[in-house]
Formats: sequence, C-alpha cells, structure tokens
Amino acid sequence: MCGIVGYIGFREAYPILIKGLHRLEYRGYDSAGVALINKEDRLSVYKAKGRVQDLEEYAKDKDITGTIGIAHTRWATHGEPSNSNAHPHYSQSESLALIHNGIIENYAVLKAQLIQNGYTFQSSTDTEVLVQLIEYIKKLNNCDLFSAVQIALNQVVGAYAIAVIEKGKPEQIIAARKSSPLVIGVGDGEFFIGSDASPIIEYTNKVIYLDDEEIAIIKRNEEPKIVTIANIEKTHEIKQLEMNLSQLERGGYPHFMLKEIYEQPETLKNCMSGRINIEGTNVTLSGIIDHKEKFINARRIIIIACGTSWHAGLIGEYLFEEFCRIPVEVEYASEFRYRNPVIHPDDIVIAISQSGETADSLAAIELARKAGAFVYGVCNVVGSSIPRNTDSGSYTHCGHEIGVASTKAFTAQVTVLTMMALTIAKEKGSIDNDKYIDTIKELQLIPSKIEKALAANEKIKELSKIFTYAQNFIYLGRGYNYPIALEGALKLKEISYIHAEGYPAAEMKHGPIALIDNEMPVVSIATNSAIYEKVVSNIQEIKARKGCVIAIINEGDETMKSMADRYIEIPATIECLDPLLTAIPLQLLAYHIAVNKNRDVDMPRNLAKSVTVE
Ligand code: M6R
Repeated sequence: MCGIVGYIGFREAYPILIKGLHRLEYRGYDSAGVALINKEDRLSVYKAKGRVQDLEEYAKDKDITGTIGIAHTRWATHGEPSNSNAHPHYSQSESLALIHNGIIENYAVLKAQLIQNGYTFQSSTDTEVLVQLIEYIKKLNNCDLFSAVQIALNQVVGAYAIAVIEKGKPEQIIAARKSSPLVIGVGDGEFFIGSDASPIIEYTNKVIYLDDEEIAIIKRNEEPKIVTIANIEKTHEIKQLEMNLSQLERGGYPHFMLKEIYEQPETLKNCMSGRINIEGTNVTLSGIIDHKEKFINARRIIIIACGTSWHAGLIGEYLFEEFCRIPVEVEYASEFRYRNPVIHPDDIVIAISQSGETADSLAAIELARKAGAFVYGVCNVVGSSIPRNTDSGSYTHCGHEIGVASTKAFTAQVTVLTMMALTIAKEKGSIDNDKYIDTIKELQLIPSKIEKALAANEKIKELSKIFTYAQNFIYLGRGYNYPIALEGALKLKEISYIHAEGYPAAEMKHGPIALIDNEMPVVSIATNSAIYEKVVSNIQEIKARKGCVIAIINEGDETMKSMADRYIEIPATIECLDPLLTAIPLQLLAYHIAVNKNRDVDMPRNLAKSVTVE
C-alpha cells in the first residue's frame, strides 16, 4: 500500500527521500512523487507514474535542492495510476503540498462543497480534496497551517496518515494519523517521517509512534509538538527500534522472498528464544500468563485475520482444540466486522497479523473490544497499531518481512500459536505432561528440520520447470495440513498469477474431482499422520483420473514414492508441527515457478504488503 517518507533537517532532503521511497517499494505501489522547499522558499512537486526510478529520471534536471521535503509511493484506490493522481498533491494556489495514506470516505461531499467555493481539481483522488480543504479553511479563518489541518481533520471521515508542507515555511512539516500508521524518526536536531520504520532506520533508531487523531508539528532542533484533533496536548515516549539495516537488504539473494524463506531456521529460533527453557521442559508466554484466568475460563476463542495470517489461524484452531479443549472459530476479519457476530465478554479474540496494520483486522478488533471480549494480538511489526490496540499479545519476532508473499511471518505465527496452545493447556491442565514435553522438545528441533527441508531447493527448482506453464493447480491436505494446502495455493497465485485452489483432500469427490485430467497438477501433502491411509486413498483417486500428483512426503516413504508422479521429501515430525515443515517446499515451488515465469516476485502486480484500506 501507499508509503510515506519525510525529512526536515540540515542535509539535502532529496537523496534521503528517494532512498526512503526505495525502502518502501516492498509495500507495493504504482506511482511516486516528491515535494521539496528550496532555499528560496519555493515549493516544487515532481511525480511520475511507474517506479521510483521513473520519478528519478523525471526529476534529474529539475531543482531538487532543499533541506525539507515529503515523498510518497501511491497504490491506487481513488483514480487510476497516473501522473496527476500521484502524490504529493498541490492545493489550488500551489502553496501547500500533501501526501496521504488511507481513504477519505466523505471526499465526495467535501469536494462538492469546495467546487461550490471555486476550487478546481487536477486529479480523481480523495487526497487532493483534503489538501484543498486545508487551504480553504486556512484562507477562510486566516489561520496557520497547523490550525487549518486540525479543523480539516475534524471534518474528515475515514483513515489517514498525512504530511503537509507549505511554501515560504521551510521550518516545519505537519503530520497526522488516524487508522493508518505514521512514525517520526528522531535524529540530532533533524527528523524523519515514515509510514513504517524502513526509510528511517538508516539514520536513527529512536522513534515516536503517533496515535490516532494526533497531529505533530515537526521543526528542526525542537521536540515535536503533538496535539490531538480535539486540541489536547500529548507527550510521547521515544521508543527504540528493534529492526536493523541488514533486514532491508537482499544479502546476496536474488529476491527478498528467497532470503526470507531461507531465514526461517533462524527466525523460528528467535521466535522461541526466551520463551522455551533450554531443557525443553517449559514454555511461557508472558502475554498469556499475565492474564491466565481469562484463558483458563474462556468460553470460546475467535481467531480473526486475513490472507496468510488467516491460514495460520486455521492451524491455531486445530492446536487450541487439541491441546486446550476450547472451542475455536476462525473468521476472516473483513466478514466478522460486518456481520453482527455474537461476542461474549468471556470470549477471547486472537488477532493475527504480520504488519499489525491491516484495516479489516483493526476494525474487527474494535468491534470485539466494544463487545467486551479480551483481545490478544499475534503480530510481527513491533509498535504497530494492532499491538497498541489489544489487551495483550505476543510478537512473532521474525524480523522485517519485505517480500509481499508472506513466508517467514507465517511459520513464526504458527510457532507462536503452538506456544500459546501449550501455555494455556499447561495452565488449564488439559494436556498430559508427556505430551507437553514431547511437543516442546520436537518444536525445538523444527529449525534444524527446516534446514533439511530447504536442502530440497535444487530438486524443487528442477521440478518447477515442468509445471511453469500449467494453467491451474490443485493443492490437497488433511488435518493440520489442510490450511497448508490453502497457503500453498495462495503463494502460487500471488506471485506466479497461476490459478490455484486448496482443498481438504476428502472434499475432492464432492465436486472438484471433476477438474482432474492429465493437464492438472495436484500437489498433495502426504506426510505421516493419523489419517495417512486416507491420504493414500485420496491420491489413488486422483491417479485413477490421470491427474499428475506432486507429493510432499516424509523422507524414505517408499509407498508414496511409487504412487506419486513427482515427490519432494522432508523430515518427519509430530503431526501438530508438520505445517512448519510442509510449508517450506510449497513456498519454494511457488517461488521457482514465479521466477521461471519472470514475475516480479517481491512486488507482484496489484498486491500490497500492508493492506491499510478495506
Ligand atoms: O499483515 P497481515 O498479516 O495482517 O496481512 C494479511 C494479508 O494481507 C497477507 O497475509 C497477504 O495475504 C499476504 N500477501 C500473503 O502472502
């Protein structure tokens, strides 16, 4: 989704802004732009449809001097990707320039009022309405920019993270947020703005996270002044960023996605670190222990999430029901928020999100909290909106994930959910001690088993060549591996643009089996489980219809080797942890097919890393 970067200080702003835009590219975008105030106090805006390089090309012979500026990558919502719809947007008199993430829902009404007052528009965006409104209010009330922004934001319905600068006022940036993240990086008398920390981390690890409906006045050599739209002054603690610069570099890998797939042994160790004791006899998540009565007495767990995080939630359902004997429902946040769900005060709602900023998940959390449920966040991005709007939670600690297709965040989410289920089950007494310890010990072995699973990479790369031109794929799994079938299909769709469907294998004969012929690759997750024999039968049904079976199997499974057309071997583990291993070859298969098809693996078309609009 859209990205924001800003700078005010003593250095030239343009190189910082451009580098920041490159750092934000992973979020997905279709145009980019920059606004600068030079030393003659002239305000210039340059923008271009396409990539940040297109903007650089366009601006190369322009005046790009100045020590204050704002810049933006746009992911189209209102109006197609184009130069005129790109941000920053000028106000009518070209005295203000504004960048915006989010959606102004009442923009049509505001626009009509502004047109009546003589304003004309150069773009089809909701953002241009906001900058025109600010200028209109400023002139009408003869007030300064901060007051005009404050009045305007009181009239706006919707979500925003904005930064505004004003011609002739090179001493300040005004920034504000509601339901869309905004971070201020605090340097030595200089300040940075980012929609996340990635454009900032190179310069400082000290940050201030703005809260909803807060406006910051940011000036050189002064502490940012923060005031709400209701005019209440706020003070904010300066926080330390956990991220480091190497997480933003590809480190020799051709794509971030491949790097992130390979990081999984390490990220899962980090995720477990400090939570499982060295002997492997105890797991403790403080976010649960601090509220253990709530979990012990929970009537029900409702898991809300979107996309890949929703798939992790489905695995959570199996884990919580098996270990804790608490009924679980897993809901798409986007459906939950609009369907008037029954929520009890003794329900626990678990919100899973890599970014911690997904708009639908945030709205679902708000609904659950209003209904009195206890809300627990499982997020990766430290300090993001979900952890700040939940009662308790656990971070996944897998580091910055840049590839739009989520990989390491998924396995870390499943690991946290496993540790949650074990912690609750122990407190509740719903798991016997041997099973508890066996599961922890096996969980500790998962990072090294993932390393072994990654050794199949070359084989998967070769295999991928055979299937690069397939039109459709079916993924099958059962039990704990049913969500992995869904996740494998999603990975392939996202980055290769091949149509793929995931099914619980036994559902095939209720309809989808009609699709099977010798053109249809069927990826079957056929590792050892309590229902292994049933999976064998499901595969035979596919083979009987001449489907081409690519089986994910345990090392040395001769039965499967003789039955499948192709196979990928991975180490064995206990059933509840199998998804942490079966996910790996499916990530690699999707990756290699996408590379063979010459797709933009890290930034697939139409997708955004962090979906901050509904
Ligand atoms: O940041 P979140 O985990 O809340 O994001 C949810 C989905 O948008 C995300 O998982 C999406 O499906 C990914 N592109 C999957 O690879």
